[in-house]
Amino acid sequence: MKTFFNVEDIGDLSKALAEAKEVKNYPFKWKRLGENKTIMLVFFNSSLRTRLSSQKAALNLGMDPIVLNIGQDSWKLEDKLGVVMDGDKSEHLREAIPVMASYCDIIGVRSFAGLTDREYDYNETVLRQFIDYGGKPVISLESATVHPCQAFADLITIEEFKRKARPKVVMTWAPHPRALPQAVPNSFAQWMNAADVDFVITHPEGYELDPRFVGGAKVEYDQMKALEGADFVYAKNWSCPGVTDPSKYGQVLSRDMGWTVDEAHMAVTDNAFFMHCLPVRRNMIVSDAVIDAPTSLVIPEAANRVVSAQVVMKRMLEEM
Ligand code: CP
Repeated sequence: MKTFFNVEDIGDLSKALAEAKEVKNYPFKWKRLGENKTIMLVFFNSSLRTRLSSQKAALNLGMDPIVLNIGQDSWKLEDKLGVVMDGDKSEHLREAIPVMASYCDIIGVRSFAGLTDREYDYNETVLRQFIDYGGKPVISLESATVHPCQAFADLITIEEFKRKARPKVVMTWAPHPRALPQAVPNSFAQWMNAADVDFVITHPEGYELDPRFVGGAKVEYDQMKALEGADFVYAKNWSCPGVTDPSKYGQVLSRDMGWTVDEAHMAVTDNAFFMHCLPVRRNMIVSDAVIDAPTSLVIPEAANRVVSAQVVMKRMLEEM
């Protein structure tokens, strides 16, 4: 595997899920695989889970992780070609990426969407430069449009907790005070469409995700109707994807607290499990009662981030 970006990169999902189970049961079985190998984890944005789970996964495989916080530990980096670099950015990605790549065997990159230029974000302009200039396998640790390590961990969690062969999974938009990227819902949709689940997306009008991620999923604008009979409720906020109106890309169109997932919402489900990628704003996205209930999976879901990252790194190491 040279890149981990889209669901197709992992290949057969049942094989990946079986491998995840083995990795979870025997995390140190491949401790020699990463011997004398280094992974560089490059963060342009904040992180708790991704940073720690990626480091833990690398250590389980015997790899040495190096973490770099761009702009804090390093120079600020320019990412646009052809600009006169007379601002606060001291170095260009064109040099910084091959330098970083020369110190490691795998690169992981977190680089969020700027939410001002849809084309720039949806072309994955920063991540693609790591692929083009690094010459090393690249893992998206949440880039402009996708968060595959999260979606893989979400699928592993659904597989572990499902009570029927083909569960109903509902991804619901929920309110948030700030504009957030679409990477998590995009990837969740992409992975659920590839998995053996009945997948429904619900959100207020104007929040339509890019059709390439929605795929064949059912979109239901009535949140309560969407949640009826659900086995898993996956809550997430996202800003306007600019599909129906590109001028609104990245904007907050609604703060309707009626969409906050509370006990009344969960009551119409089939005793559904609650999921969220974290970090979560309590009583905005989800009520205290729902996230604190025994049916909340937010902690096992976060714990599975080590498993998903380890499977991906293991596959990359096995091909070296
Ligand atoms: N879910 C997730 O990616 O968490 P962090 O932003 O803390 O890494």
